[in-house]
Amino acid sequence: MTRYNERKATLQARPQTWLITGVAGFIGSNLLETLLKLNQTVIGLDNFATGHQHNLDEVQTLVAGEQWARFTFIEGDIRELDDCRKAVKGVDHVLHQAALGSVPRSIADPIATNQANIDGFLNMLVAAKDEQAKSFTYAASSSTYGDHPDLPKIEDTIGNPLSPYAVTKYVNELYADVFARSYEFKAIGLRYFNVFGPRQDPNGAYAAVIPKWTAAMIQGDTVSINGDGETSRDFCFIDNAVQANLLAATAADEHKNQVYNVACNARTSLNELFDLIAQELANLDVRYHKKPDYADFRPGDVRHSQADISKAADNLGYQPTHSVGQGLAVAMPWYKDSLG
Ligand SMILES: NC(=O)c1ccc[n+]([C@@H]2O[C@H](COP(=O)([O-])OP(=O)(O)OC[C@H]3O[C@@H](n4cnc5c(N)ncnc54)[C@H](O)[C@@H]3O)[C@@H](O)[C@H]2O)c1
Repeated sequence: MTRYNERKATLQARPQTWLITGVAGFIGSNLLETLLKLNQTVIGLDNFATGHQHNLDEVQTLVAGEQWARFTFIEGDIRELDDCRKAVKGVDHVLHQAALGSVPRSIADPIATNQANIDGFLNMLVAAKDEQAKSFTYAASSSTYGDHPDLPKIEDTIGNPLSPYAVTKYVNELYADVFARSYEFKAIGLRYFNVFGPRQDPNGAYAAVIPKWTAAMIQGDTVSINGDGETSRDFCFIDNAVQANLLAATAADEHKNQVYNVACNARTSLNELFDLIAQELANLDVRYHKKPDYADFRPGDVRHSQADISKAADNLGYQPTHSVGQGLAVAMPWYKDSLG
């Protein structure tokens, strides 16, 4: 039995109370679905800045009525300490996902990104510490590796941040570390690498690459690739990220006050990704014959990314269940159903 299956069985036997911030977003709503299916009690906090009611509605259709009844939604803002305190009341585990994502958004509006990602993060840390939550797991980011050229990325070796977004995610790590020193409050940061899967938003100027291209292909629009297409990423299917969160929340104290890479230790170029998505859609009878447009490189983007995942494997028992191809095979039918 994997450690993940062991932990899920333990949680089912002894249900806990969880707070998911950013619950109406992509990763948050997937965490919600998994936890409710494990009969946990969940409180969700979101201000719908980038999340959607339809994500919550979809989760409701995927869980049993008595499981949905264990969910309480609070519409509120992590930039307000009172909202954080209200949401965290009586909670065992905090999964802090709320933030403004996207490198280009942070370049366009660094103040908004700073307020949600640093002020909001600090509010959540203070609220969780004062409530003496058993665990605090937060969404860190591979963008913290910045301009460091080494591959694969190892947690201790980072470069200079390349965007305001990357600064905010690094500051989260610094604050978490200082809370361990100052208050013995131990958090775990999960450095996600390009997470993808059902419910990731395909719309808007700051959509991530996989939903954006998938929508373009389904709708017959031209796909635009930033740069020459040889930029590469360690694309991480959502189930792997959910697994990492549950393992982190239930980790032994000695493995807390750490950051962990969450991905697959694999690398896919954008050109390869284009072919993989087109192939998966073709398997669903969605044929796309256009060639992509190649545009300028985007400022703030790192050229290559690939995670060493041995620290998460050794300390948390993390074992990704889906490669990029296996994840796309799950995600594409969802996009076809919701956009086709
Ligand atoms: N998706 C990825 O590839 C990826 C990679 C690295 C890190 N992350 C991080 O993971 C987390 C979740 O990302 P996601 O992809 O699900 O994005 P998302 O935009 O779908 O979800 C973020 C959620 O946070 C909410 N939110 C934003 N500001 C808020 C505020 N002030 N108060 C309350 N709620 C607020 C949004 O409404 C949204 O529902 C973020 O912290 C993001 O930075 C994501």
